[in-house]
Amino acid sequence: MVRLTDIITAFAKGIARSRVSLVGAMLTTIIFPLLVGSIILDLFGYITNPYFGFVIYMVMGPLFIIGLVMVILGLLFFKGKVDVGLFTLEYLREQFNDPERFTRIRKLVFLGVFLTCVNLFVMGLLGYSGYHYMESVGFCGQFCHTVMNPEYTAYKNSPHSRVACVECHIGSGAQWFVKSKISGSRQLVAVALDTYPRPIETPVHGLRPARETCEECHRPELFHGEKLVIRDQFRSDETNTKVATVLLMKVGSAGDRTVSSHGIHWHVAPENRISYKATDHTRKEIAEVTLFRPDGSLKVYRTDKGKKDGPEVESRVMDCIDCHNRPSHIYLTPEQALDRKIQEGAIPAELPYIKRQALAIVTGKFDTLEGARSAIATQIKNWYQKNYPEIARSKGEILEKAVKGVQDAYEENVFPAMKIDWNTYTNHIGHGEAFDVGCFRCHAGDHKTEAGEVISADCNTCHTILAENEANPQILKTLRGNE
Ligand code: HEC
Ligand code: HEC
Ligand code: HEC
Ligand code: HEC
Ligand code: HEC
Repeated sequence: MVRLTDIITAFAKGIARSRVSLVGAMLTTIIFPLLVGSIILDLFGYITNPYFGFVIYMVMGPLFIIGLVMVILGLLFFKGKVDVGLFTLEYLREQFNDPERFTRIRKLVFLGVFLTCVNLFVMGLLGYSGYHYMESVGFCGQFCHTVMNPEYTAYKNSPHSRVACVECHIGSGAQWFVKSKISGSRQLVAVALDTYPRPIETPVHGLRPARETCEECHRPELFHGEKLVIRDQFRSDETNTKVATVLLMKVGSAGDRTVSSHGIHWHVAPENRISYKATDHTRKEIAEVTLFRPDGSLKVYRTDKGKKDGPEVESRVMDCIDCHNRPSHIYLTPEQALDRKIQEGAIPAELPYIKRQALAIVTGKFDTLEGARSAIATQIKNWYQKNYPEIARSKGEILEKAVKGVQDAYEENVFPAMKIDWNTYTNHIGHGEAFDVGCFRCHAGDHKTEAGEVISADCNTCHTILAENEANPQILKTLRGNE
C-alpha cells in the first residue's frame, strides 16, 4: 500500500538523488522570489534602468524556466532505487481504484494543479512583460549603449522622440516580429563578438516597406496644398546677423476621393508607381527611373550613365524613406546645429563672431569626444582672450555658456566612438550644398526619356522661394502685419 506521504518522500528523494533535479530545484527556489519581486517592480515602473530589464527577462526568466525543466527531466530520467516517474503512475492507478482513497488523491491533484498554475502564471507574466521589454525604447536604444548611442541621441532630439523604435523598425504583425527577433539575435552576437560595422550601415537593408509603418500614423492622401517653411540662419559676420529663408513648400497630396494627387506627395499616390535603379547600394547615384501609370504605360528616364547599361546594383520601388530617410535619426550639418543652438539662446548671439569661430572649431577632426570638448573650450576662450580681452574679462559667464552650447552641438551630432562625423549620414529631404543628393538624385535635369522628357529641375516644381537668406525679409513683415 502506497501513501500520500510516501509519494512526497519519493519525490523529495528523487530530487535529492538526481543531481539534475537537485540543481534545478535549487535554481527555481532561489530565483522564484527574486523574479516575482523584480517583475512587480518593473511592471509598476519603479526601476527603469534598461539593464534591470535585461537581468529579469534575459537572465532570471530563462534560468527559472531551465530550473523547472531540469527538475522534471531529472525525475523522469533518473534511474535509481526509486523510479519516481513510474512510481507516481503506479500510485495514482492504485488510488483511483480505491474509493476510500478519494480525498487523498483530491488533495494531491489540488496541490499539483495549484503548483502548475503558479508556475504557468509566472511564466505568462514573464512572457508578457518580457515581450514589452524587448519592444521598449530602453532595450533597443540604450542597452547596447555605445553602439546605439548615436541613433538614440538623434532620435531623442527628433519629432519622433515619443514614437517607439519598433513602430518604424518592426511595425505590426507576427511575420515582421519573428524577422526582427532573428535579425536582433544576429545583432546581439555581432555586438558580443565586436564585429559590427562602425558607423552602422545605412540604408538599412531589409527595412520593412515604409508604407506599412509610416502610414499607420500618417496619411499623405489627406495632405493638401502648400506649407510655409521658415529657416532661420546666422551669418558668419561680427554681429552674427540673423537671416531667414522663406519657402512655400508644395507638400501636395497622394490624392483621395476629393483631391487628385499633386505636388510632392504625388510620388506616393496609389496610381503612381516609381521604381529606380541605383549604381551602388547606398542609393546615392540613381541611373534609371521608371514611372508606371495605371493605364499600363510607362516612362523610363535615364542619365547618360544609365544608358550605358552598367551593372545595376540595386532596384527599388520608391516609398517614404527615399525622401524621409531621416525622420527620426536627424543628424544636422554643423551650420544647422550651431544655428539651432544660437536660435535657442544656448549659444549667446551677443558674442562677436561666435558663429564663425564655433564653425571653424567644430568642423575640426577629433579622435575622442573628450578631446573635442576640451579643444572647443580652450580654443573659444583663447580666441576671445586674444581678440576681445574685454569680453574675456568681464563676460566670463557668457563665454562659459557659449562653450557649453558649442560642445552640445558637437556632441549631439558627432560620435567619434562609432566613427560618425558631420555628414556621415546624408538627409534626402531637400538638396543641400552638394547638388547631387536628396531630390536632385532624380531632379537634377539629367534624367531623360528617349523622347527627351526630363524629370523637372525647375526650382518652382517643389517650392516657391519667397526670400533667401535675407535679414528681415519683406514677406515676413507682410505676413506678420507690417509690424
Ligand atoms: C520615425 C521612425 C523611426 C523611429 C521611431 C526609429 N527609427 Fe531607426 N531608422 C528609421 C529610418 C527611416 C532609418 C533609415 C533607413 C534607411 O535609410 O534605410 C533608420 C535607421 C536606423 C539605424 C541604422 C543607422 C542609421 O542611422 O541609418 C539604426 C541602428 C536605428 N535606426 C535604430 C533605431 C533605434 C535604436 C530607435 C529607437 C531609439 C529607432 N531607430 C527609432 C526610422 C525610425
Ligand atoms: C506611431 C506613430 C508614428 C509613426 C509610425 C511615424 N510617425 Fe511621423 N510623426 C508622428 C507624430 C506624432 C509626429 C508629430 C510630432 C510633432 O508634431 O512634434 C510626426 C511627425 C512627422 C513628420 C513631420 C516632422 C516635422 O519636422 O514636423 C514627418 C515628415 C514624419 N512624421 C514622417 C514619418 C515617416 C517617414 C515615418 C515612417 C518611417 C513616420 N513618420 C512614422 C507619429 C508617427
Ligand atoms: C518625393 C519625396 C517624398 C516622399 C516620397 C514622401 N514625402 Fe513626405 N514630405 C516631403 C517633403 C519635401 C516634405 C516637406 C518638408 C518640409 O516641411 O520642409 C514632406 C512632408 C511630410 C510630412 C509633414 C507634413 C506637414 O504638413 O507638415 C509628413 C507627415 C510626411 N511628409 C509623411 C510622408 C509619408 C508617410 C510618406 C510615405 C507614404 C511620404 N511623406 C513620402 C517629401 C516626400
Ligand atoms: C525636386 C524638388 C526641388 C527642386 C527642383 C528644387 N528644390 Fe529647393 N528644396 C527642396 C526641398 C524638399 C527643400 C527642403 C525644405 C526643408 O528644408 O524642409 C528645399 C530647400 C531649398 C532651400 C532652403 C535651404 C535651407 O534650408 O536653407 C533653398 C534656398 C532652395 N531649396 C533653393 C532652390 C533653388 C534655387 C532651386 C532651383 C535651382 C531649387 N531649390 C530646386 C526641393 C526642391
Ligand atoms: C527616384 C527618383 C525621384 C526622387 C528621389 C524624387 N523625385 Fe520627384 N519626381 C520623380 C519623377 C519620375 C517625377 C515625374 C516627372 C516630372 O513630373 O518631372 C517627379 C515629379 C515630382 C513633382 C511633380 C509632381 C506633379 O504634381 O506632377 C514634384 C513636386 C516632385 N517630384 C518633388 C520632389 C521632391 C521635393 C523630392 C525630394 C524630397 C523628389 N521629388 C525626389 C522622381 C523622383
